[in-house]
Amino acid sequence: MGRVRKRERALLAALRLPRQRRYEVEESLDELGRLAESAGAEVVGRVTQERQAPTPKLYFGKGKVDELKASSERERANLMISDDALSPIQERNLGGSLGLKVIDRTALILDIFAQRARTMEGKLQVELAQLSYLLPRLVGQWKHLERLGGGIGTRGPGETQLESDRRMVRHRIEKIRGELGRVRVHRRLLRDRRKSAGVPVVALVGYTNAGKTTLLNRLTGAEHAAADQLFMTLDPTARLVTRTGHAPFILTDTVGFIRKLPHQLVAAFKATLEELDEADVLVHVVDASHPGLDDQMSAVDSLLGELDLGRRPTIVALNKVDRLEEGSALGALVDRFEGTALSARTGEGVAALLDRIEDALRPGVERISLLIPYRDGTALAHCYERGRVLSRSDAAEGIHLEVELPPRLLAMVEAYRVTR
Ligand code: GTP
Repeated sequence: MGRVRKRERALLAALRLPRQRRYEVEESLDELGRLAESAGAEVVGRVTQERQAPTPKLYFGKGKVDELKASSERERANLMISDDALSPIQERNLGGSLGLKVIDRTALILDIFAQRARTMEGKLQVELAQLSYLLPRLVGQWKHLERLGGGIGTRGPGETQLESDRRMVRHRIEKIRGELGRVRVHRRLLRDRRKSAGVPVVALVGYTNAGKTTLLNRLTGAEHAAADQLFMTLDPTARLVTRTGHAPFILTDTVGFIRKLPHQLVAAFKATLEELDEADVLVHVVDASHPGLDDQMSAVDSLLGELDLGRRPTIVALNKVDRLEEGSALGALVDRFEGTALSARTGEGVAALLDRIEDALRPGVERISLLIPYRDGTALAHCYERGRVLSRSDAAEGIHLEVELPPRLLAMVEAYRVTR
């Protein structure tokens, strides 16, 4: 699999087939460029060719390959990325003719996922996707040799090597599936534990590079490290957010969304989003300074729809406002999406987002009046730790408390409920 190393110099290439419009191809290449950059490469040029169909051997026509070679030499490129999937044969032939490493969009996205995967489950999922990408390619190579007529060169050690490669890959795939099963069971346990603790869950979703992780870090600064110990084994991408005088919630980060996700990755991607199911509220983080904002948002929305999360309460966080110029269209964006403008980098607007999250979580809470006897310190602590105390007065008969608690946490204090 072609890993993209830092500052590789990449040439982007695409075919324009008769059914494709020019702008579609250009937009797709723009995105490929951004993906290449986020994988750490520098884009040094792009080439397109109009053709009826790809050529089986080189994908592009012979003349175009010569042109690609000339540009790659001129730009000192050491990597070519094709916007569409290449067959292993095309990949190998192109690499040979151009004298550079050649990869396609799928390999690039797999590479980005491999760099970004943070959880054990995510890492396993990406490896699984990489292996499934590899497997048919091994088969493909074999079929190609067979098609050339079998015979010399297709029997003996060659075949044995290929067979054993395939066996190894299949074996590893099986092993990963087993490990994934175990990781999932473990995660389900953690999830159940969180649920029984009654702390609501807020999940950050958004297009890749929107700023989710930066926002997570901003919302859960070092001051919360101690509180995190309460949930010791929380996933590294889930943290507890506490503010004095406010009910705590768990904030989880998710892997960024990408358009035209290679099919090998769709299952892996959805599996890593499984935990969104436990989220009470979603925060859709958007890069408000990005020209392709609308497309990115609708890509995220349609995926959320596929995951049956279309109706989950969602707050739009218009991030990176520090990059917007004075008099930009921010006001219009805020109106259109009823969004909260903020900058995860500077911290501007973050407090307002927290308030909105809290409001969104509140429909699930009930406001009650309690009279707690002094001897029951546990019930009092329960209110402070799990709920939001609105008022308190210490009287001779006990503590009068006005508190907001989620319905599932009412049982513990039900005995002290008073009507006003
Ligand atoms: P994925 O992991 O790809 O899903 O990305 P992400 O959404 O977690 O984005 P991340 O937090 O990694 O941020 C992406 C880039 O945007 C980083 O270079 C951040 O420093 C930058 N960034 C995030 N928030 C802001 C912001 O408010 N302002 C500016 N100027 N840059 C930001």
